[in-house]
Amino acid sequence: MKRLLTNIHRLVHVDESHRPYLKGGEMNDLKEIENGFLEIENGLIKRYGPMSDLHASDIAGVSEVLNCEGKWVMPGLIDSHSHLIFAEPRAQEFEDRIHGLTYEEIAARGGGILNSARKLADMDEERLYMDAMQRLHEVIKTGTTAIEIKSGYGLSVEAELKMLRVAKRIKRRAPIPVKITFLGAHAIPPEYKGKEDDYVDLVINEMLPKVAENELADYIDVFCEKGYFSAEQTDRILKAGAEYGLRPKVHVNQFNAFGGVKTCVDNNALSVDHLEVMNDEDFEVLKNSNCMPVALPSCSFFLSIPYTPGRKIIDSGLPLALATDYNPGSTPSGNLLFVWSLACIQMKLTPQEGLAALTQNAAYALELESSMGSISIGKKANLLISERMDSLGHLPYHFGRNSLFEVIINGKPYCKLEP
Ligand code: NIG
Ligand code: FE
Repeated sequence: MKRLLTNIHRLVHVDESHRPYLKGGEMNDLKEIENGFLEIENGLIKRYGPMSDLHASDIAGVSEVLNCEGKWVMPGLIDSHSHLIFAEPRAQEFEDRIHGLTYEEIAARGGGILNSARKLADMDEERLYMDAMQRLHEVIKTGTTAIEIKSGYGLSVEAELKMLRVAKRIKRRAPIPVKITFLGAHAIPPEYKGKEDDYVDLVINEMLPKVAENELADYIDVFCEKGYFSAEQTDRILKAGAEYGLRPKVHVNQFNAFGGVKTCVDNNALSVDHLEVMNDEDFEVLKNSNCMPVALPSCSFFLSIPYTPGRKIIDSGLPLALATDYNPGSTPSGNLLFVWSLACIQMKLTPQEGLAALTQNAAYALELESSMGSISIGKKANLLISERMDSLGHLPYHFGRNSLFEVIINGKPYCKLEP
């Protein structure tokens, strides 16, 4: 099955260098082809180039030609951090924050993650699956072409496994690549108050072996934060995960910096996520690693907390990825186009840097960089076609609006796929 995209105004982020990720100045140096074409065969990128290289004989055997006149084509966006599976929205907490309570105060009263865990315990697997699938279809329309999904609203052996089974079912059925992260250490359940280490033991000795035995996760995560899990507890959990081959992707430095980033890097973390608060040591540790810093600007937007210093991270020569953090408490949105806008408006990334962070660097944060993240021969044809526009900045500039003409998944326009 061959498809051809022709007369592409600009084909963005073409790259045959096989770099795993882009760092520092490389992020603003994406290569483009003006007036180009792209050929897709069996869901993969077969060939691309300027229209002058396309001959009449190339059209033979092509089942569909899509004229992209005036439109831009780029790699599909990748969401490397989401909590897509949850039971109910938490709009009451949203109103409580309007009336002055902080996210941390709401959590201390038994709201927050514990509120979501109570609701999830009562919900059956089928409903969790159907709701999350609907969210997945929604986010694909705003450009998400691969996604990570975490557990973490279970907080008991039974409920964590339930979430992960739902995630695995989504992974099997989803039209886009899905990676699953075990986040048993998301919060301390109330019955473990005062005996937090016992809960860490439960995660390590009861949950992890079952997660591994049933092959329910690709990665392990911990909420390394004051009032949640200390750097020492995080270290224990990550080391236990490594025994089962689970690489860390960790929530760290959301509100406080206390050495968590070093703990993650020492444990060979694939990514460190949040990083709203960073000190000099965190920068030094990251400079000597292959760990991807991941910023979640729509969480900062929704909670009115500081933004990750994305500009400083890139200017230090480091790479940066962007993700949504889609969850009912701190980020009730899975819209990566909005994340792109916030990265430009609030973190002062250029539109090119934003795209690099949402494609190639996000692919690295999910170990998908050899099959996704750039326009490269042999990579998956998960692509975005914009509406007619004059500059890449058009997409993040129109914040809150979907300026995509089409999302291509496995070489086919997504809206034409079966629901
Ligand atoms: O990434 N910070 C920890 N976990 C989630 C929020 C979870 C929630 O509030 O339900 C986050 O922001
Ligand atoms: Fe998160």
